[in-house]
Amino acid sequence: MTERVGALPALGKGLESCGVLVTGATGGIGAAVARAFAESGARVAVTDLSERAATDLAATLPGEGHVGIGADVGLIDRHAELVEEAEEAVGPLVALAHLAAVLRRRHEITEIDEADWDAQVDVNLKASFFLNRAFAERLRGDGRGGAIVNFSSQGWWTGGFGGSVVYNATKGGIVTMTRGLARTYAGAGIRVNAVAPGLVKTAMLTDELAPDVLQSLVDQVPLGRMATPEEVAPAVVFLASTHAGYITGATLNISGGWLMY
Ligand SMILES: NC(=O)c1ccc[n+]([C@@H]2O[C@H](COP(=O)([O-])OP(=O)(O)OC[C@H]3O[C@@H](n4cnc5c(N)ncnc54)[C@H](O)[C@@H]3O)[C@@H](O)[C@H]2O)c1
Repeated sequence: MTERVGALPALGKGLESCGVLVTGATGGIGAAVARAFAESGARVAVTDLSERAATDLAATLPGEGHVGIGADVGLIDRHAELVEEAEEAVGPLVALAHLAAVLRRRHEITEIDEADWDAQVDVNLKASFFLNRAFAERLRGDGRGGAIVNFSSQGWWTGGFGGSVVYNATKGGIVTMTRGLARTYAGAGIRVNAVAPGLVKTAMLTDELAPDVLQSLVDQVPLGRMATPEEVAPAVVFLASTHAGYITGATLNISGGWLMY
């Protein structure tokens, strides 16, 4: 039988038995990302604030060798330890999918205080830089290549909706930081990309957003609906895999056609 010219190997090619670290992994999208990596044959270090939830999720993933780790990514001093603990459990890491983030909706802009600003900037942006760096330095120190997939949002482009200006400022920062780190670590064979989902059906989006406001946003999406987390996860596996070997510094728009760039 003639092999189809240019046929692509399976999506997770290159990730079989490799270690990946997923933060925010027990959240709506994170759980789907952890599962998609596991289905690709990777060994997944599942991390989130609750150790119990992380351990429970790790136990339900297909394949073997997964682990749950409780960690607050806001504790920057612990990042190197987190990466080390993950490697001890799942083996040398090839990818970091970094989803951990917080959204504090404030429908009146005058209600935003410094604590709101700090909480979102600290977790969403500051911690992202230091965790990306801890991960990349670990790989570079070992002479290993790898990939980082950060989570931005449609809001990096639109500025956001429904009282989320500060959150979206952090998501803009993620795009810029991803580009800078991609340039920094390219020589070490470490690719750094981001995904920018539009409307994904999770608690973060739907909690505290009036149904009519949410519907008015969905009405702007050519595909006419919110994404499921399972529709976002394969893009993360793709960017982490050898399929994306020539992609770095990119921000992948996953918005159902809402934004077109
Ligand atoms: N849902 C959407 O429509 C949407 C759209 C664009 C981007 N995003 C992004 O996707 C990612 C996942 O969002 P989601 O919708 O699954 O939200 P979610 O709230 O379900 O998940 C976020 C996870 O991050 C964890 N987390 C928060 N603070 C943490 C900390 N200090 N340390 C460790 N973990 C922490 C939470 O416990 C939670 O499990 C986020 O980065 C979010 O900004 C979501």
